Amino acid sequence: MDKLKITGGRALEGEVRVSGAKNAALPIMCAALLSAKPLALTNVPRLRDVSTMAKLLAQMGVTVNRQEAKTVLHAKEITEPTAAYELVKTMRASVLVLGPLLARCGEAKVSLPGGCAIGARPVDQHVKGLQAMGATISIEHGYMQASASRLRGARIVMDLVTVTGTENLMMAAALAEGETLLENAAREPEVVDLARCLIAMGAKIEGAGSDQIRIRGVPSLGGAEHRVMPDRIETGTYLAAAAAAGGKIRLTGTAPESLDATLDKLREAGARIEIHGSSIDLEIARRPGAVSVRTAPYPAFATDMQAQFMALACVADGTALITETIFENRFMHAIELQRLGADIRLEGNTAVVKGVERLQGAAVMATDLRASAGLVIAGLVAEGQTVIDRIYHLDRGYEALEGKLTALGARVERIK
Ligand code: EPU
Repeated sequence: MDKLKITGGRALEGEVRVSGAKNAALPIMCAALLSAKPLALTNVPRLRDVSTMAKLLAQMGVTVNRQEAKTVLHAKEITEPTAAYELVKTMRASVLVLGPLLARCGEAKVSLPGGCAIGARPVDQHVKGLQAMGATISIEHGYMQASASRLRGARIVMDLVTVTGTENLMMAAALAEGETLLENAAREPEVVDLARCLIAMGAKIEGAGSDQIRIRGVPSLGGAEHRVMPDRIETGTYLAAAAAAGGKIRLTGTAPESLDATLDKLREAGARIEIHGSSIDLEIARRPGAVSVRTAPYPAFATDMQAQFMALACVADGTALITETIFENRFMHAIELQRLGADIRLEGNTAVVKGVERLQGAAVMATDLRASAGLVIAGLVAEGQTVIDRIYHLDRGYEALEGKLTALGARVERIK
């Protein structure tokens, strides 16, 4: 199993281009299921989760043609509206096929995802919404068996804000009969990017980006071309890395407007940030100051940035409170950070992090994607060598991580 060896202690300097957003690309790939015409995508990141989604769609009869700059998905015919456990268990986002399959084929069989390293992650809101649209859904042998002759529009008030839940229902509603109103919808930029793609395919959607999304169903959708938005979490991860390690970096091809909460916190830590179009420059000349964060749905501070900011807090001047409100078990990295000499005390869903002058390299274990990103940041600032095990987690969501870090002057090496 691959490991990542990082020799820490060097400031970051240089320029890298960010990739397309994983969490936008995955639902948008599923949108291809809604149409018999091809969907051509650009800026699709080269990630393991994207390959997993491509494999999942191919099993259903979708033709996936990945070229250098363009990925074309063509669901001319759906031969098998099933998502098997073997793939779903490796990637929870697989549940995003449920709404589109049901809307297009009138039936779907999708494995229940089960738990994961960051929490229970139920899908009751996805199910509840589809039932409100007239679907019959039962659980049989670990699979959700769903059927509906044609989904009907409905007013759906979600009990909590769920990103993939909103996306699943928005896709299903695009082909339903009549109007659907999604209340308490997720406002994440990835939801907006999906809506943009669906609209290009001919869907009638208003309000994406607000907590109320109105979808007027149409009988069929066409083909489209769409450019996947830049990855705001990847962007934020490199910015947090530079804020922790010191230095001066430029990130290009970003979507700065999707990063308000992260940029505010980085400024609070003492970083100077300048935005020119889609480029973000960050410079920090001193030890970062401690900043507290509390995760919440967009536009508040993202849970997917929590581990990276905990790593930053480990070396900051002062004490930071890191509060996680979205997932119940998303502090696994805290224990690993302690192995590097961090001073972290866990109190329920808050981590009290007292910054130390320096961390020391050690062997650590990645537990999930963003936790791994936190460990990478800690490794970059730690004295000596840090070896991160189980970096397949990183390959799920960070394109060309070693290459990009090397371009920023870091000393990183993948050990086979
Ligand atoms: N929830 C329910 N019932 C549901 C759905 C969600 O109780 O039916 C709960 C979850 O257990 C959680 C909260 O609602 O406590 C929010 O979960 P959400 O559904 O928003 O998460 P998700 O859609 O499964 C997406 C991202 C995650 C990101 C979260 C939160 C994708 C593919 N994944 O997951 O990204 O952490 O939103 O912003 O979009 C990552 O990229 O590393 C990652 C985990």
